[in-house]
Amino acid sequence: NWSMDDFIDLQVDKIRETVGDQKVILGLSGGVDSSVAAVLIHKAIGDQLTCIFVDHGLLRKNEAQSVMDALNRDLGVNIVKVDAADRFLGKLKGVTDPERKRKIIGAEFIEVFNEEAAKLKDVKFLAQGTLYTDVIESGTDTAQTIKSHHNVGGLPEKMGFKLIEPLRSLFKDETRALGEKLGIPHELVWRQPFPGPGLGIRVLGEITPAKLAIVRESDAILREEVAKAGLDQKIWQYFTALPGIRSVGVMGDGRTYDEAVVIRAVTSIDGMTADFAQIPWDVLQKISVRIVNEVDHVNRVLYDVTSKPPSTIEYE
Ligand code: XMP
Repeated sequence: NWSMDDFIDLQVDKIRETVGDQKVILGLSGGVDSSVAAVLIHKAIGDQLTCIFVDHGLLRKNEAQSVMDALNRDLGVNIVKVDAADRFLGKLKGVTDPERKRKIIGAEFIEVFNEEAAKLKDVKFLAQGTLYTDVIESGTDTAQTIKSHHNVGGLPEKMGFKLIEPLRSLFKDETRALGEKLGIPHELVWRQPFPGPGLGIRVLGEITPAKLAIVRESDAILREEVAKAGLDQKIWQYFTALPGIRSVGVMGDGRTYDEAVVIRAVTSIDGMTADFAQIPWDVLQKISVRIVNEVDHVNRVLYDVTSKPPSTIEYE
């Protein structure tokens, strides 16, 4: 019987043997795969591993901090966090086309990562949290033809590094079990999928700091209430988006003309197809009231009842 402890021991030996006294870098996204890879490799070689965590300013509320707390403060993983929000927002200014937004974010990500990698001397290895499913799906990813996908896993392998991919034989659920075993907090290990371009593809059209704030705050409320209702592991993905619809509302005695926020929640097995999730009305009601009351410039909350296909999970 295959045990997780055996897997850890085996991988630790293997990583040590491969790396020797050389240095390794890893692009940390905050997602499950790169986090588990980071902690596993850190267990094997300690500070010979440097993780680069690019904060593109499109992360969810408290996301960067919780990753730093869990991996750096509590588990001792060496992480260089790059605050690149201004850079990304500068490049994205005035850009409205979804594919152009995705391309800009992906390209800028690689540029920032490369700049940081170049600052570290004598790095021989690039580590990635590639899973078995990534291995078998590569080349047959139909989503790629619909939307250009951007992942930390897509960093160029031609940077002169040798690759280390200790999770290559694992499925997602095994990776999660491994993460728990390695001491990564439950919330991080069980976190819902989050796209590389982040909130950038949930603000439809041009991205501005004010619009990002609306998505970030409303999304935090949604996540909090979904977790409170015990639904967080039953729904594949749940988030808010800002479609850019302004409409008339009434607040006190006054007329408002403000933004609508849409709630997207889906159940799915692999993200390739999905059904809209049937969040109970009372939970939706709480979320709606809180969003309108707590998030500035929102006077309407909509619920997306489309499945994939014909819609996609994300809006851009
Ligand atoms: P769509 O919107 O194509 O999304 O139905 C399917 C799944 O993929 C995620 N997604 C991404 N993940 N980089 C990622 O790592 C991306 O660029 C990206 N775009 C979409 C999406 O969140 C959903 O889980």
